[in-house]
Amino acid sequence: MSHLLDESAISHALAGSYWRVSVVQETSSTQTMLRDSTPTHGDVIVAEYQSQGRGRLDRTFEAAANTALLFTFYVEPQTSVERFTFLPLLAGLTVAETLNQKCAPGFSTKWPNDILFGEKKVAGLLVERCGAGVIVGIGINTSMSESQLPVPTATSIALATGITPDRNQLLADFLAAFAAALQKWEAGNDFVKEYLALNSTINQDVEITLPGAVVKHGRAVSIDASGALLLESGEQVTVGDVVHVRRY
Ligand code: BTN
Repeated sequence: MSHLLDESAISHALAGSYWRVSVVQETSSTQTMLRDSTPTHGDVIVAEYQSQGRGRLDRTFEAAANTALLFTFYVEPQTSVERFTFLPLLAGLTVAETLNQKCAPGFSTKWPNDILFGEKKVAGLLVERCGAGVIVGIGINTSMSESQLPVPTATSIALATGITPDRNQLLADFLAAFAAALQKWEAGNDFVKEYLALNSTINQDVEITLPGAVVKHGRAVSIDASGALLLESGEQVTVGDVVHVRRY
């Protein structure tokens, strides 16, 4: 069992930054709670338990109490709104980098913004427009045991690496790294090179379920600065659910 969430420990670790973190024991969803609070830049809510956690594409996101790092933050990026489509990838990249640096090597992103260890999902992100900015919700499976995993294709940091991270420190490390990345991205760095270096979808055959249940097959070759996935066929995919298809 990892340390319990501790608001003063997180705030202490983030002293001097713009982040303002509130810890709640239970909420329906940190995503909904933050949106309803009419947030300002730097507001963060982190919860021990969510009764109605939400995932991408209208899915649920479930985690037993204390076994995951479940948080949502609000930022108003100082750049054109057209560039906001890259923010899910920037946040996912920052999660993977933070886990590689602070836990153990081996974490990567799966387009658009899942975090994998090997081929198993360890974290997911949900990014939504809100006012002049975005709310970014992140769920990282930290100490889940095998029987607590929501699906067999998931894993936790503890199961994958043998390390049970202190969620207070992990949250502070992520937020500090994201603030630094956001500043560089606002200044014009598109982070495409950094994303490609830590992505496991590129150079894979993929099956993509597009909105409307249309299924597309292809080979992923790159991404662009808008965050779209580029296929060998020349097609550009902006939204979808990807499965890496193995060739035997
Ligand atoms: C996905 O994998 O489909 C995205 C999962 C996002 C889950 C996080 S947990 C914190 C925040 N609150 C929610 O209800 N969802 C996000």
